Amino acid sequence: MGNNKLLGKVAIVSGGARGMGASEAALFNSEGAKVVITDILDEDGKLKAKEISPDGSSCVFMHHDVTNKDNWAAVVAATIELFGQVDVLVNNAGVFEFGGIVDTTLDQWNRTISINQTGVFLGMQAVAAHMSGRKTGSIVNISSVAGMTASPGFIAYGASKWAVRGMTKSVAKELAAFGVRVNSIHPGIIDTVMLQTFEQAGDGIRDAIRQRIPMGREADPIEVARLALYLACEDSSYSTGSEFVVDGGFMP
Ligand SMILES: NC(=O)c1ccc[n+]([C@@H]2O[C@H](COP(=O)([O-])OP(=O)(O)OC[C@H]3O[C@@H](n4cnc5c(N)ncnc54)[C@H](O)[C@@H]3O)[C@@H](O)[C@H]2O)c1
Repeated sequence: MGNNKLLGKVAIVSGGARGMGASEAALFNSEGAKVVITDILDEDGKLKAKEISPDGSSCVFMHHDVTNKDNWAAVVAATIELFGQVDVLVNNAGVFEFGGIVDTTLDQWNRTISINQTGVFLGMQAVAAHMSGRKTGSIVNISSVAGMTASPGFIAYGASKWAVRGMTKSVAKELAAFGVRVNSIHPGIIDTVMLQTFEQAGDGIRDAIRQRIPMGREADPIEVARLALYLACEDSSYSTGSEFVVDGGFMP
């Protein structure tokens, strides 16, 4: 059992059907929050929500494509109808693809930017007026160490994650006076399905990257979720517009 750090709060976690988002949803719920998991993966999302709250009273799944403005409006409206308010938004949904400046196609670029960057913009926009009106709220945007360092070989992903970092600081300054905090998390190498992309890119790449982590291992998603909980709850009451790294010492 948790410490009720989110008792009475309502959270939306995008891309929460699996990986870090699923871990955040479960942790937030164990801390007393009502949680809405959203994703394009309907089966995984429904299973995860049922695992967290078998009777659906404190965690539900909603189908949601973060690139779609109408989907965002529907998810926020349905959350308010069901649970009364939105206190926390974790913009977690994201995709990773290899591709350097020479070989990245415009389609690949547009897909990554629309999910990782525009998705976060639309998410913040969808809750900003509601949270500001209630004079309370925490938005947690999942960027990456790739949003703080140069990343050869994935131009679109790097651009999208630097943008998340920049948008976070910008919106934090805009909403601070309304009691809404906005921070970014910068994970290093976390053991989720996303990392399988590394394996597909070539034998030994994942091992080679792991060897560059000073702590010598990838993280479990819960190690990121705990940081997301800190930012979601009042423990981080004086932090906004800040960047929080969780990377086992990976960053230079
Ligand atoms: N795994 C890592 O090492 C790592 C490192 C740094 C940052 N991140 C970031 O963490 C976040 C979570 O990634 P993860 O590692 O848990 O990967 P994951 O692939 O397991 O989870 C990402 C989730 O986002 C969902 N998603 C993708 N496109 C979507 C869309 N258009 N609308 C709604 N949902 C969508 C996926 O279906 C999936 O459930 C991502 O933003 C990712 O970029 C991951």
